[in-house]
Amino acid sequence: AKANIGVVGMAVMGSNLARNLASREGNTVAIYNRSPEKTHEVAKNHPEANFVASDTIDEFVASLAKPRTAIIMVQAGAGTDAVIEQLKERFEPGDIIVDGGNANFHDTIAREAKIAPTGIHFVGAGISGGEEGALKGPSIMPGGTPESYETLGPILASIAAVAEGEACVTHVGTDGAGHFVKMIHNGIEYADMELIGEAYDLLRNVAGHSPAAISDIFKTWNEGPLNSYLIEITIDILKHVDAETGKPFVDIVTDQAGSKGTGVWTVQTALDLGVPVGGVAEAVFGRAVSSKRNQRDAVRALDIPRPAAPSVDDSFVDDVAKALYASKIVAYAQGFDAIIAGAEKYGWNIDKGAVAKIWRGGCIIRAQFLNVLADAYETNPNLATLLEAPYFAQAIRDGQDAWRRVVVTATQAGVPVPGFATALSYFDSLNVDRLPAALVQGQRDFFGAHTYKRVDKPGVFHTLWSGDRSEVQTD
Ligand code: 6PG
Repeated sequence: AKANIGVVGMAVMGSNLARNLASREGNTVAIYNRSPEKTHEVAKNHPEANFVASDTIDEFVASLAKPRTAIIMVQAGAGTDAVIEQLKERFEPGDIIVDGGNANFHDTIAREAKIAPTGIHFVGAGISGGEEGALKGPSIMPGGTPESYETLGPILASIAAVAEGEACVTHVGTDGAGHFVKMIHNGIEYADMELIGEAYDLLRNVAGHSPAAISDIFKTWNEGPLNSYLIEITIDILKHVDAETGKPFVDIVTDQAGSKGTGVWTVQTALDLGVPVGGVAEAVFGRAVSSKRNQRDAVRALDIPRPAAPSVDDSFVDDVAKALYASKIVAYAQGFDAIIAGAEKYGWNIDKGAVAKIWRGGCIIRAQFLNVLADAYETNPNLATLLEAPYFAQAIRDGQDAWRRVVVTATQAGVPVPGFATALSYFDSLNVDRLPAALVQGQRDFFGAHTYKRVDKPGVFHTLWSGDRSEVQTD
């Protein structure tokens, strides 16, 4: 029998996705890898999957039923381009090439534009959930044409995670929309991880709790509004003890965080779109600072005394939970602002409620919270900011005092909280009557005649700063 779906690339993500596909009723899965040994190994280790294994790309293409549909799961970049080329040469109009990697959405737009004239559909699909998600049910964010989704949608729905009875997949928008939204997902993932890290650091280095005790604290948090996959895995990580030394695992890991680029892309994109995503930016920078070992050593060597941690009582733990929640709301608000701005710029019709819904299961940022977020956008798709939705507004109202106490205490204690602090400053920026941007406008006008607007009448103005300082209207 011919396969209704194929997977190219048999590294962990590819083989897990292929196994997931094969485990669902109605799917026959063709598999192919550049080195055939890998393909054979996967087929041999998983006889239950009944894979159609191919040694060559020609065999692979021949094993697919029409419209041929193949998901590429190889290293993003040159590897992906090479496979796309091979498939493009062999596929026919109506066939579908899916890139399931973490591609940059600009590349996806360019690839789609290049392939579209051949009549072959090219779909960039964000897939989240790591190795386990790929195997058991990821959250899937496909872009591409609506026609391609008619074939692809049911196949993806068969393997996606299910949240509240709904498959975690939706047609996000055309061309690069899927990879764009996956990138924002990863940006939010960075922000959330940074915030959880800061919460841990405060509980450890201000409140003086052990990793195991913090694990227990997070366990109680996980039963409330902070419930999420990232909190869940943090509970396990903090409990974990290194077998070799008997020390908490978290104490034997080098404190220099790596990254593969999607967080950086989110910030770069947000800069282009003019959308503040301070939460993601501080998370990216936080990882960067952590990795600058030489600079950290140089400053430590100065022996500038660190402040003594102020003493805190039990209420501090609850304060940190509230600060974490408020900051997390800000991170999502900023992420969705970026989605709205991206959709506008690139001409995508993105349903924000649907995006929130497919993030409820399978993906790394999955959380109870996303139900409320989906409701917020379903009730009012035109929210000026997520913070305006009644539930989130209330959470900020309830949390703001605690949030401020935490940022103050952290500052006094010399514990860095770039994530909490930027989120709070962002909220304050939105919540004050007048911003010092007025002064910046004055400075711009002073040195560069960049003009300004007045609060009291329409028009564009310039002050003759190097002349008699009279004002002229320039429009
Ligand atoms: C996911 C993850 C996944 C991957 C990131 C990690 O949604 O399944 O986001 O895509 O784990 O690429 O990124 P960093 O290595 O940059 O932290």
